Amino acid sequence: MSTIQFQFFVGTSVVFQRDASLTLHDQLQKLGKKRPLVLTDQGIMDAGIANVVTNQLDEHTYDYEVMHDIPANPPSKVVMKGAMLIQNQQFDSIVAVGGGSVMDAAKAISIMSANDGSINDYDAIIGNRTFEKQGPPLITIPTTSGTGSEVTQWAVITNEETGRKQAIGHPFMSPVIALVDPVLTLKLPKVLTAATGSDALTHAIEAYTSKNTMNNNSPLIDHIALEAIAMISRSLVRAVTNGEDLEAREEMMAGSLLAGIAFQNAGLGNTHALAHPLGGKFNVPHGIANANLLPVVMAYNVDACPERFETIANIFEPGAHKKASDAVVFVEQLIERIGIPSLSEYGMTERDYKEMAKDATTDVSSFTNPKETTEETFFELYLKASKLTV
Ligand SMILES: NC(=O)c1ccc[n+]([C@@H]2O[C@H](COP(=O)([O-])OP(=O)(O)OC[C@H]3O[C@@H](n4cnc5c(N)ncnc54)[C@H](O)[C@@H]3O)[C@@H](O)[C@H]2O)c1
Ligand SMILES: [Fe+2]
Repeated sequence: MSTIQFQFFVGTSVVFQRDASLTLHDQLQKLGKKRPLVLTDQGIMDAGIANVVTNQLDEHTYDYEVMHDIPANPPSKVVMKGAMLIQNQQFDSIVAVGGGSVMDAAKAISIMSANDGSINDYDAIIGNRTFEKQGPPLITIPTTSGTGSEVTQWAVITNEETGRKQAIGHPFMSPVIALVDPVLTLKLPKVLTAATGSDALTHAIEAYTSKNTMNNNSPLIDHIALEAIAMISRSLVRAVTNGEDLEAREEMMAGSLLAGIAFQNAGLGNTHALAHPLGGKFNVPHGIANANLLPVVMAYNVDACPERFETIANIFEPGAHKKASDAVVFVEQLIERIGIPSLSEYGMTERDYKEMAKDATTDVSSFTNPKETTEETFFELYLKASKLTV
């Protein structure tokens, strides 16, 4: 038996329960905060979900403001605008209600309001600075299941000049509290449920098969990732088929949270390395990119850790004595069943994929893939996922 060895970090207090979002006022009171900046996006406003936050703030006469123009794949100019707002108007806390885009923007806005320079300076790959100061405390209220961003120290921000999705991360960026409330996802439309759920599944699978997880021996990461895989694979089709199925929504939200905790400690893999350029350059929704790429990347990775993929296959179909490659077939069929739009709908050409393959080689997620991957192979994986060749 190999020795047990791992590092593990979660910097966020989690309140997971139906209607957890209704405890926002109590949480702000405990923190002694009176002037929050609420970050959200238009979709959350239109769905009536932002009201859950603003009604409580109105009722208890908080001196707050709302910034609701955070786009998907949030660009750095929005982050810098939010950071300036905090500096100029002295907000003492931030409440982020939304999906990964809003929560990532909120983490970046908080930390950039307290540190000078640009996102580039702190980029996990090309940056040469580290954050020295903590920003105002952040409370996250996720509305997708999802990115796990409610508990991670990472934010993914798009550089609008290069189209590169840049990861920045620091323990200072961990939200202080996550109010994880499955009720908020009951109205999440089918295609968003399918896409964001695929992202969560990808986090769990990539965490369980990451190079870090295999090089170390971490019962924590293994158990958390496998439980996430079990929950998501049991409930994703149910949540897509009947959005009002609160049990399925609850399991999706717990699975996505666990997957976030697992991957922040384990790293990710090639699915994310390939998905990020698609989001940054062509605005392909993150979950849709992952769903198209995941089975192709799993098929490529399966011989690097067959025993791990065999375990996954048997979690997907307990008691069926499945082999490693069955995990790939299960995910292919799952993606088919939940109705994910194909990459061909977004207009990328072979030439675009060639360019993006270069970006994938320097994406932070590629460094923890279980197999080393060349630019040429990244290109082939893109072509397979986009069905430009098989
Ligand atoms: N920080 C991390 O660790 C991490 C991990 C994975 C992904 N990400 C990033 O997160 C982003 C993707 O986040 P996402 O997949 O949650 O989607 P998103 O935040 O981009 O939201 C997508 C759309 O869904 C709408 N929406 C969200 N919740 C809704 C609800 N309950 N009802 C109705 N509409 C709703 C939003 O208004 C938006 O239009 C990407 O930028 C990705 O790179 C970050
Ligand atoms: Fe992701």
